[in-house]
Parts: sequence; C-alpha cells; structure tokens
Amino acid sequence: MKLPARSLPGLLAVLALAASPTLAQETAAQRDARLQWWREARFGMFVHWGLYSGLAGTWEGKAVGTKGGMEWIQQRVKADTATYAQRAIPLFKPTPGFAREWARLAKAAGCRYLVFTTKHHDGFALHDSKVSDYDAGSVLQRDLVREIVDACRAEGLRVGFYHSVIDWHHDQYEYALSKQLPHPLKGQPYPNGTRQHAKYLDYLHAEVRELVSNYGRIDILWWDYSAQDFQGDVAWRATELMSLVRSKLPGVIMNNRLYRSAEAGWKSMGTEGYAPQLDPRYGDFITPEQHIPATGMPGVDWETCMTLNTTWGYSEHDHAWKSDETLIRNLIDIASKGGNYLLNIGPKGDGSLTPETVKSFQAIGAWMKINGESIYGTTASPFAKLDWGRAVRKGRTLYLHVFNWPADGTLLVPLANKATRATLLAAPREKLAVSSTPGGLRLQLPARAPDPIASVIRLELDGDPRVIAP
Ligand code: GLC
Repeated sequence: MKLPARSLPGLLAVLALAASPTLAQETAAQRDARLQWWREARFGMFVHWGLYSGLAGTWEGKAVGTKGGMEWIQQRVKADTATYAQRAIPLFKPTPGFAREWARLAKAAGCRYLVFTTKHHDGFALHDSKVSDYDAGSVLQRDLVREIVDACRAEGLRVGFYHSVIDWHHDQYEYALSKQLPHPLKGQPYPNGTRQHAKYLDYLHAEVRELVSNYGRIDILWWDYSAQDFQGDVAWRATELMSLVRSKLPGVIMNNRLYRSAEAGWKSMGTEGYAPQLDPRYGDFITPEQHIPATGMPGVDWETCMTLNTTWGYSEHDHAWKSDETLIRNLIDIASKGGNYLLNIGPKGDGSLTPETVKSFQAIGAWMKINGESIYGTTASPFAKLDWGRAVRKGRTLYLHVFNWPADGTLLVPLANKATRATLLAAPREKLAVSSTPGGLRLQLPARAPDPIASVIRLELDGDPRVIAP
C-alpha cells in the first residue's frame, strides 16, 4: 500500500495515536468530565481580529459591502497575498495592552471563555512563529497570542484558539483541490507554478504545534473549516492534527470543522446544514453559525456562534447592530435549548472596540449580574413551548424567563408538581404566591416586570418536573 506523502514526525504521531490511551479509550464519564466546564459555561466571547481588521471593510477607498464577513475582504476583492499584505499591514497597529479591554469586557458580560482567531483564512498568524514570516512576530515583533492569552488569564477566563485550516497566503496551499472552499485566486493557475499540499500541511501542523506547546493550558481548539469535497485526513491530516493537539492539551475541547460529513454532524455545506449526531472522533461539539436550532440538538453538544452586527471582522460600514433585547433573549433561548452562545466582537486594527460592542456586552453583563444563575450550569427546558418566554432546568429547580409579562399578573406554568418556593431573581427575598390548578402552577406576579427584556423566576419543585401536555 502506498502511504500518502507525510513527514516523519507526522507518521510518528499517527503511530503514537494508535498506541497511547486516547480518545478511542475515553469513557463516557471521562468525556463528561472533560466537557463539564464548557457545558456549564453557556456563554463565551468570540473575537475575529487580524490584518483585515485594519482594512475595516474598505478597499481602495470604497466600501466592499455593508453586510457580511469583512474578514473575507482579501477574497472579496480577489487580491493576491502580496497586495493584500501591503495594504493591510500598515493599518494593523495594536496598541499596548489592547487585549485587556477585551478580556475585561468578556468578564463583565459574564462570559466564561474567550475564543480568538490565531489565524484566519488570510493566513496571517498572530503569534511569533518560527516556521513563518507572515506572523506578528516577524511583522510587529510581538506575540499577540501571548498578549491575548495573558489578558484572558488575568480575568480568569478559559481560552480557545480559532485556527483556520484554509490558508490564502501559503504558497503550497493547493486551492485547486477543492471546488467548494474559497480562495482569492480561485480558477487562476498557481502563481508559483505547481504546489504540493503536503508541504502546506507540514507547515499547518508545525504552526499548530507551536500554538499548543507554548502557551500553557489552552481549553478549546476551534477549527475552521472544511467542505464536502475537501475535509478530514485528505485535506488536513485531521486525525493526526487532532491527536497532536490532544497530546499537548489532554483536556482540550475541539469543534467538528475539520470535517464536513454526516458522522461529524454535517448534512450539507450550508451553515444550517447539520445532523444531530457527532462521532467524538470528529470533534466534541457542533457549531450552528448565525442561527439557533429551532428545537436545540438533543444528545449533542452545540454552540451557536453569532455576530453583533453582520460581520465577524471589523467593518466601518456595518451598522446593523443587534439590540440588547435580541442578544439577551438569544442567550436565554440557546440555554433553554441546551446550547452555548459564542458571541463575536470585531475589534479595530488597533485592537480597540466600537462603542456599540462595549454597550452590548455591558448590557448583557448587567442582566447576568442579577440573572446569571439562570444561565450557568443549566440544562434544556422540559417544556416544548411556552407562550410567555423560556425555561431552563437545574435539577428540581426551574428558571422561568418571562419575555411577555402577563397583564393580569398571573403566570401559568404547565406542571403537575407542587412548588416548594418561587421568587424573582430580582427580588430574591420576596416569595411569590403559587397555587395548583388543573392547568398547572399559577404564579402571582407583581404588576410590573422587573426587567423589560427578561425577568427571571426561580421555581423550586417537589421533584423532577412533570409537564402537563398542552
Ligand atoms: C465561517 C467563515 C468565517 C468565520 C466563521 C465563524 O465559516 O469563513 O469568516 O470565521 O465561520 O463561524
């Protein structure tokens, strides 16, 4: 059998994977323990930041668009990497200590983790890499990954690396191998004649090795992304890549984007095209992008990632900011369906944040300060649907998120249980009157909602919730 071209270290890593106790031997209990903090966290901050951030959605003085991902600007304007770098590098000027503002804001908002782009599709690495000169070390004489990791740790946040396996810079990345994956020069012959993808993969693995070796414990590897016609071992030597990461970071949690197959939870190329199954060999969680699965994804771990406006990377032209109400209710909706919310910020080229970004995360933080216990460590709602809002569960306690405050002051909760105690998180010392009726528990509420976006009731039950079918 002819072995695919791979480096000696690569081959050794595959053999080591076969020999050492790895994922294959992980029991369900061990897996639960590994994922526990992430399942409890429920809320994280996503950061898209790189060379594109300085360009801010503008190319040659013109807006490239007002909607959509401007971290794709190089591809949108079909720039070769030299032209792109020449324009973007002078505009990428991180101020000292920029990352502290991100981390403090994440903390203040109640995020438990922060995932940031160590490299996006443009190929520019934010760390100080020994295997590339298209990196912050070479260009800025700084290690931005270290700066961001340190800032997160100072705030007690867990840290994740988003890493693009797609690469629009590397001169051995064979973009013609995939029809579905984008590239700025798609359809054009390679400027350097021929390419050997195996060489790109050696480089990809070497950079990832640096990232998982040099920054202490990293909690998440967030891969991006694959296509049906280009994925897994063929495209990225994915098995080997994941085992490299695990060998350095045994507790790490990874998403499923090194693949795009049914076993890995994918149905199609669309960002809504997922299947509610995930073989752990292909990752730990599924990543619905820009939307919330209608009924959650029972039995699988999932995380909705979403932008604050419509772009991941900063654009000066995108003003379609989501309201505080939308963001807070999204977080609740996702928790009620058993998922995590990874909410994105797109800092500017100097690392600073727009006022809208700060305001949004502060508003979530103000809500979380009072109501955070109704998000962290909760599990999905026992109810299929509630007219007035959402619910989550923590053992025998339910948290009821009331979006539509009842005009008559009574809230019907379709449960056959008895309530042992009911309080508003906004007024935890005042007990709410509860009566049992054939339709369920009837709660007597104050005339005015404590929070117009979502007021939360903590309802303690006499046992596991027994839902009355509608
Ligand atoms: C996408 C995009 C990208 C963004 C991301 C976040 O697939 O390519 O720009 O980083 O996913 O989910």
